[in-house]
Amino acid sequence: MRLQIYRNPFRIEDWRNREAVLVSRIAGRREPGSAGKVSRRIGEAMGTDRRDFLRKISRASALAAAASVLERNRCVALSQSSHSIGMPTTPALEYLRAQFPVLGERVNDHPLVYLDSAATTQRPRAVIDALANFYLHDNANPGKSLHTLARRSSALYEKARGTVARFLNARGPEEVVWTRGTTEALNLVASSWGGANLHAGDEIVLTVSEHYSALVPWQIAARRANARVRILDVEDDGRLRLDQLDTLLSERTKLVAFPHVSNVLGLINPVKEICDRAHRAGALVVVDGAQSIPHFSVDVQQLGCDFFAFSAHKMLGPMGTGVLWARREILEGMPPYQAGSNMAHDVDLESKSTHFAEGAWKFEAGTPNVPGPVGLAAAIEFLESLGRKDLWNREQELTRHALSAFREVKGLRILGPTEPDNRISVFSFVLEKSDALDLVKALDAMGFALRGGDLASHPLLKRMGLTEAVRASCYAYTTAEEVDLLVAALQRERRGHS
Ligand SMILES: Cc1ncc(COP(=O)(O)O)c(C=O)c1O
Repeated sequence: MRLQIYRNPFRIEDWRNREAVLVSRIAGRREPGSAGKVSRRIGEAMGTDRRDFLRKISRASALAAAASVLERNRCVALSQSSHSIGMPTTPALEYLRAQFPVLGERVNDHPLVYLDSAATTQRPRAVIDALANFYLHDNANPGKSLHTLARRSSALYEKARGTVARFLNARGPEEVVWTRGTTEALNLVASSWGGANLHAGDEIVLTVSEHYSALVPWQIAARRANARVRILDVEDDGRLRLDQLDTLLSERTKLVAFPHVSNVLGLINPVKEICDRAHRAGALVVVDGAQSIPHFSVDVQQLGCDFFAFSAHKMLGPMGTGVLWARREILEGMPPYQAGSNMAHDVDLESKSTHFAEGAWKFEAGTPNVPGPVGLAAAIEFLESLGRKDLWNREQELTRHALSAFREVKGLRILGPTEPDNRISVFSFVLEKSDALDLVKALDAMGFALRGGDLASHPLLKRMGLTEAVRASCYAYTTAEEVDLLVAALQRERRGHS
């Protein structure tokens, strides 16, 4: 099936049938006659412009999914009280899942149960199609005043920047820097801003809860500048010790950095409060948004931070693409991170006339990754078509369900608070008498995809008395049944070890 669709996307009958089904679902008309009429019209359109047709079909998938959310809401309302095992997968959720081809895979002879979305989410057809369309129809090294394909590529690239600026409520696209991911975005800040602004004796405040990508770049920057890294501790359950913050902040503090949501505990940290306190002390704030923006809306102006970083692949977009958002006046004061074509102009050998692009463009040297942002824009549109508030409401319901289901596994320790408030549907745990990696392997043999190990967060695990843990992470397409299957598998594992 996958080969048929992706190696030969122009098998007219496949696409006609798919479009017909999608359009008739959107319209709420399921009788074959009406779908047939739509199909004929689509077929005619396809004869004239295949690319346009494929774009429409991606859009249709998103609209169909949006329509399905309405249906789902109705079903969720009906099932509101069915909070224990057996919370039903609604037809709408099943339809949403059908947008993700990989979810239909079998792994080790079992249906795939994908619970590794905090590491990377799966991609819907709308995103896969956007990537394929770029390479099939628009691929060129971008250039605003060159040939048609170069102009098209340039326009798509900048349109995607505009989509992200709107999505974040940035003041403009000049505040959106494309990077390879959260890691590169944070390295950019540490290297460019840190290189220019950190001096001997300065201090940076980080937290025990940091992912390596948010910790190591600052350790390197601090070492280079002979500055000091100070660490905000967490409570035993992983909540940030905000009571320590004012003691750590001083006139030497140049920067405070922390994760919006912990990748281990799923806990949401209070960004606004931390920003206000850091700003009062004269420090800038960097927020690692890798685990937050995939789950709920983020408004960077409302949060009040100075830098915000995230990765496309954790929110249905492509790998190798990320964003650094920064306030434009801060970007203006930062030196280039990398240098090369596109960001440098009027270059001469003595570098007398060389000048750099302004805003976000100053930080983007060389041939850009155009399909990455194009795919991210498609992911954003897809998420928005599902309704971010609806997704968040459903996620909270799933979180409640999962936390109560995990309680039934004897010997299972969930890391962090076990209350459903203020957290996303990411659950790290250890199972008595089971090694984390052995457990991940045993679950893999049953078709489950989970992550285990130090979760790039050794300091936090150490603070919790551990060196390794297993993490199950859910996303918009995860069903309560999948959580129940995991619980049953963990119970079997536990019985096997006792
Ligand atoms: C909290 C957090 N920060 C940073 C990263 C690094 O993201 P990427 O590997 O996409 O650059 C991750 C990835 O797991 C993460 O969970």
